[in-house]
Amino acid sequence: MSNKQFDVVVIGGGPGGYIAAIRAAQLGFNTACIDEWKNAKGGPAPGGTCTNVGCIPSKALLQSSEHYEQAGHHFAEHGISLSNLSMDVAKMLARKDAVVKQNNEGILYLFKKNKVTFFHGRGSFVKAGGIGYELKVSGANEEVIEARHVIVATGSNARALPGVPFDEQNVLSNDGALRIPEVPKKLGVIGSGVIGLEMGSVWRRLGADVTILEALPTFLGAADEQVAKEALKVFTKQGLKIQLGVKVNEVKNGAKGVTVSYTDAKGEAQTLEVDKLIVSIGRVPNTNGLNPEAVGLKLDERGAIVVDDQCRTNLPNVWAVGDVVRGPMLAHKAEEEGVAVAERIAGQHGHVNFDTIPWVIYTSPEIAWVGKTEQQLKAEGRAYKAGSFPFMANGRARALGDTTGFVKFLADAKTDEILGVHIIGPYASELIAESVVAMEFKASAEDIARICHAHPSLSEATKEAALAVDKRTLNF
Ligand code: FAD
Ligand code: NAI
Repeated sequence: MSNKQFDVVVIGGGPGGYIAAIRAAQLGFNTACIDEWKNAKGGPAPGGTCTNVGCIPSKALLQSSEHYEQAGHHFAEHGISLSNLSMDVAKMLARKDAVVKQNNEGILYLFKKNKVTFFHGRGSFVKAGGIGYELKVSGANEEVIEARHVIVATGSNARALPGVPFDEQNVLSNDGALRIPEVPKKLGVIGSGVIGLEMGSVWRRLGADVTILEALPTFLGAADEQVAKEALKVFTKQGLKIQLGVKVNEVKNGAKGVTVSYTDAKGEAQTLEVDKLIVSIGRVPNTNGLNPEAVGLKLDERGAIVVDDQCRTNLPNVWAVGDVVRGPMLAHKAEEEGVAVAERIAGQHGHVNFDTIPWVIYTSPEIAWVGKTEQQLKAEGRAYKAGSFPFMANGRARALGDTTGFVKFLADAKTDEILGVHIIGPYASELIAESVVAMEFKASAEDIARICHAHPSLSEATKEAALAVDKRTLNF
C-alpha cells in the first residue's frame, strides 16, 4: 500500500502547530497535524503546553484563586458577608481540568471543520524522499506518511535545575504546579519570572506561605523599571516573599519536603524548608523524538531549530514555529508564526511584527506591555517623552475597587510616535490590545488622546496616559 500523502504536515498540535494546520487547510492544502499529547485516559489532547499545562489551566486557577481572595478579603467592602468560607481544592482542580478538556475538544472540532487530518502519536523524520519528506507516526499504530512541506511546532519543556529532576510530587515543573492536591503550608519557587509569579500568586491566595528565590538582582528585568518597581511593592505587600540576587546551591528532596540551601544577596548562607518546590527558571526547546538528524535539520547550541526571520529552516520546505525556535516563548507569537508560514507556503506575504508582540503577566494586578521600555530607550539614546496616569484617578477603577497601578506611554520626542505602552493594573491584559493596534498603525500618542473612549471605563486611563505625554491629563 502506498503512503498517505499531504501537501503540509504539521508536527505538534500546540498553538503554533494547530493554528498553522488550520490556516494551511483554509488555503486549500491537504493538511495533517501530528500531536502526541495524551489526556488522562490516553486519548488525544491537542493544544500543547498552552492548553494542557500552560496558559489555559494557569488562568483557570488564577481565576478560582482570585474569586477566593475576593470573597475572603474584599466582599465585605461591598456589604457582602460570608461565614465559613472554604476552598475545595479538588473541585477547583476538576474545574480547571474541565476547562482544558473543552479546549482540547474545541481543537479536534476545528480540525474536523477545516478538514485537517489528525494523527495522535509521535511524528519523526524518516528521510527526505517521496513527494518531499517521509515522516513516521508512532501512536496506537505506526505508519509512514509523506509531506511536501513540514512545519515543526514541537514546543518546549520546563528547564530543571542541574541535578534536581522534577518528580512532580515535591519538585514541580509547571505541570505539577497546576495540580498540587492540597494547599501546601510552605511553598518555595525558584525563579521570579512569569510562571513563578503566576503560580506563586495562585497558591499564596489559597493560603500558602510562598517564598520566591530569584538569581538576578533586578526584579522582572524585561518589564519597564517603573512597572517592575510597583509590582515588587504590591506583590510583597500581598505576602509573596521575593528574594533577589540569590544563588541556589543545593536542593534536597526528602520524604517530608524539600530543603533549598542558598546564598542570599548579602552573601550569607540560608536554608529554606518547604513542602513543595516549583522550579520555574525558563524553558528549553523540545525536539525529543523528532529525529532531526535523519534529515540534517539544524539545531543551535540551546537545542532550538535554527530558522531565518521567515521561519525557514536549513532544509527546503521544512519550517519551524513557536517555542522550538528563537524569540519569545508565547502562545500568540507561536500562532502568528504558524499563520505566516502557512501563508508563505501558499506564496503569500505572511508577516509577524516582533516589535508589537504584547506581554502579559496574569497576576493581580495584571501587568502588560508592548514595545520598548524606558530603560531600553535610554540605552538606545533615543529622545522620548513619557506620560502616565494612575488607576486611582479613574472612575471605573474606583467603582471596581481596584485602583492599583497605572498606564504609562512612551512616545518619540519629535514625531510623537508611540514607542511603548506599559500597564500595571486591572484588566491590563485586555487594555493592552488598544496600544498594540495603535503601534501596528504607527499611531502617535496624540492619536490616542484624540479618540473618544467610553466613560466610565478603564480604557480612559490609556487615553489619559496618552494625554500625559504632553502634560495635558484632564482627570489628574
Ligand atoms: P507547545 O504548546 O509546547 O506544543 C507543542 C506540542 O507538540 C505538544 O502538544 C507536544 O506534545 C507536541 N510534540 C512535541 N514533539 C512531538 C513529536 N515529535 N510528535 C508529535 N507531537 C509532538 N503563553 C502565553 O502567550 N500566554 C500565557 O498566558 C501563557 N501561560 C503559560 C503558563 C505556563 C505555566 C506555561 C508553561 C507556559 C505559558 N505560556 C503562555 C507559554 C505557551 O504555553 C507557549 O509559548 C506555547 O504553548 C508555545 O506553543 P507551541 O505550539 O510552540 O508549543
Ligand atoms: P522566565 O524566563 O519568565 O523566568 C525565569 C526566571 O528564573 C528568571 O527571572 C531567571 O532570572 C530566573 N532564574 C534562572 N535560573 C535561576 C536559578 N538557578 N536560580 C534562581 N532563579 C533563576 O521563565 P518561566 O517563569 O519558567 O516561564 C517560561 C516561559 O513561559 C516564559 O518566559 C514565558 O515565555 C512563558 N510564560 C508566559 C506566560 C504569560 O504569557 N502570561 C505565563 C507563564 C509562562
